[in-house]
Amino acid sequence: MLTGQKIVLGVTGSIAAYKSCELLRLLIKRGARCSVIMTQAAQRFVTPLTFEALGAESVITSDWDQADCAIPHIEATRDAKLLLVAPATANILAKAAQGIADDVLSAAILAARCPVAFAPAMNTYMWHNNATQRNVAQLTQDGAIFLGPDSGEQACGDVGSGRMLEPEDLIELMQGAFAPRLLDRCRVLITAGPTYEPIDPVRGITNLSSGKQGFAIAKAAVLAGAEVTLIAGPTALKTPAGVRRIDVLTAREMYEAVMEEVPRHEVFISVAAVADWRIEKPATHKIKKEFTQAPELTFTENPDILASVAALENAPYCVGFAAETDNLIDNARAKLYRKNVPLIVANLVKDAMNKDTNAVVFVERDAATPLTKATKEAVAQALIAKIAQEVS
Ligand code: C5P
Repeated sequence: MLTGQKIVLGVTGSIAAYKSCELLRLLIKRGARCSVIMTQAAQRFVTPLTFEALGAESVITSDWDQADCAIPHIEATRDAKLLLVAPATANILAKAAQGIADDVLSAAILAARCPVAFAPAMNTYMWHNNATQRNVAQLTQDGAIFLGPDSGEQACGDVGSGRMLEPEDLIELMQGAFAPRLLDRCRVLITAGPTYEPIDPVRGITNLSSGKQGFAIAKAAVLAGAEVTLIAGPTALKTPAGVRRIDVLTAREMYEAVMEEVPRHEVFISVAAVADWRIEKPATHKIKKEFTQAPELTFTENPDILASVAALENAPYCVGFAAETDNLIDNARAKLYRKNVPLIVANLVKDAMNKDTNAVVFVERDAATPLTKATKEAVAQALIAKIAQEVS
């Protein structure tokens, strides 16, 4: 996707500027042609020479003394696919929101003839300040793309949102700048992975769902411009960049989390392999094999999350999954009616569970559309395109 594309990297004065060096290196490694624009403050953290040595085609530091270019802020984004400001300080966001053009980078942002993306990096209090949030809202409304910020420990010792995303994550999310924004700002809620139902404090019942398909859908939705909340059962998968994740263990915890979140969302994609049953009364102490007979487990039914969401008065557009061992289409269509949802993504357990590929059929009331076997990423993109068609 990046091969041969011209990317202009804007660097401002944040300690995260050291990560921009790695970002540039990775962009070039993936075939992008890069030039860099640095503010004065950025040059206190890293030098133009660093970017030149890493392979930048040009490094612009001022509008005035650039020998090879007459009007740097105008020329900089000619033929560019994206102007990515990373790190983007609160100051550059404020200037860009107001259209201030008092240095070469802010002028280049104002003159940009390509999409502009910001990867914010600042102290968490500066990020949450009303002024910054107003500027972010204004820039978003003006069409700018925000990549991050991430949250975690900051250089100043504070903890919270405001860290720049890691270069690898930024590159992943940047693909969204090239992909059509099919679900622009649509709020999408996704469940993924297995659930775990305790028998006693150390044992439980779970299933073979890896979470890979749900996580791939979360990633595809973010790349299509959606705001994504992912409610995940126990899985070690890495959270896709830009996704808000809530971890749960049991089906009831997943139900509670979904019901809490669903009113804020327009689309619900229920990918999780939710346990239909749980142990009615899990033992509070570990069951010992020496002193007891084989334990008798009494089961009770879990709430059906998808059916409950679909039955809500202001239900979002709901998509279910059906993992079957046989009679794929019939079983999936029965589920579609039982849960009262417009779309079921049907797959055979042997094609889907714990695999990196999947072969699915989109089952609707009056149609069943098989997709050719593909990676879970490709299936995710196809599903996002299908949902975008239905909700637009
Ligand atoms: O009910 P069944 O497991 O056959 O249906 C599968 C679909 O229903 C999936 O989309 C799954 O996420 C959802 N489901 C649910 N809550 C349950 C059981 C399944 O949301 N308790």
